[in-house]
Amino acid sequence: MIRVFKSIPEWIGFRNSATLEGKRLGFVPTMGALHAGHAALVERSHSENEATLVSIFVNPTQFNDPRDLEKYPRTLEADLDLLERAGADCVLYPEYRELYPDGYRYRVQEGELSRLLCGAHRPGHFDGVLTVVLKLLNIARAARAYFGEKDFQQLLLVKEMAEAFFLPTEIVPCKTVRQEDGLALSSRNARLNPGQRAQAAEFARLLGSGLPASEIRSRLEALGFAVDYVEERFGRRFGAVKLGEVRLIDNVEI
Ligand code: PAJ
Repeated sequence: MIRVFKSIPEWIGFRNSATLEGKRLGFVPTMGALHAGHAALVERSHSENEATLVSIFVNPTQFNDPRDLEKYPRTLEADLDLLERAGADCVLYPEYRELYPDGYRYRVQEGELSRLLCGAHRPGHFDGVLTVVLKLLNIARAARAYFGEKDFQQLLLVKEMAEAFFLPTEIVPCKTVRQEDGLALSSRNARLNPGQRAQAAEFARLLGSGLPASEIRSRLEALGFAVDYVEERFGRRFGAVKLGEVRLIDNVEI
């Protein structure tokens, strides 16, 4: 049976108990509304560690748009089923007040990479991400933590933060899981209507095509996407678009 901890001190007590003493722990932070992309991270942790902790916390400090936060899907029961099947042992499901005793007066800020790509379009987003990930890594005290390449900029920032602050946890990158038509799995896909869902596949297809970035942007715009950016950096092509109210991001190796 999977163990669910709502209280952070209770989790820390369990972390220090004989059950986990000396065991190699893997950690997968999430915001819930879990899908096969999250499951792949948990399965990998399960195969590489003696115990796996997953956190579910919809982190308000990383949402620059209050409507996006309000509409973020919340599916706890289904999430716990998926986690049990994927091999998670423990779930941390904390409340804002426990995770942010400081009310977000203390925050982690990165001055370069966090200003590009998504950072340029979502002010404060990566401050919120890095702050909550630092808190969660300190609470988990895992040997390894797993992050998806789907959010490649986040993965790079977390990896560099772990190095910058000499965190003892190894940051492990995991490949993007896609649907059959190429669309990267995302919790936000659930908010697309059937027409938008069909259209979303074109985003993945064009981003993965050999066309120049400027051409991809104009084709996406012609198809009705509102394009935040299509940009090439670090040997990858990154894209972010909006379909109605739903923002989609993706990236591919080039
Ligand atoms: P969330 O969007 O729930 O994603 C949790 C983890 O799952 C992230 O590492 C993300 O990159 C990975 N992931 C999501 N979709 C994926 C896919 N299709 N294939 C592979 N991996 C995928 O990212 C966050 O939550 C938050 O920013 C968080 C790190 C939890 C901090 O609040």
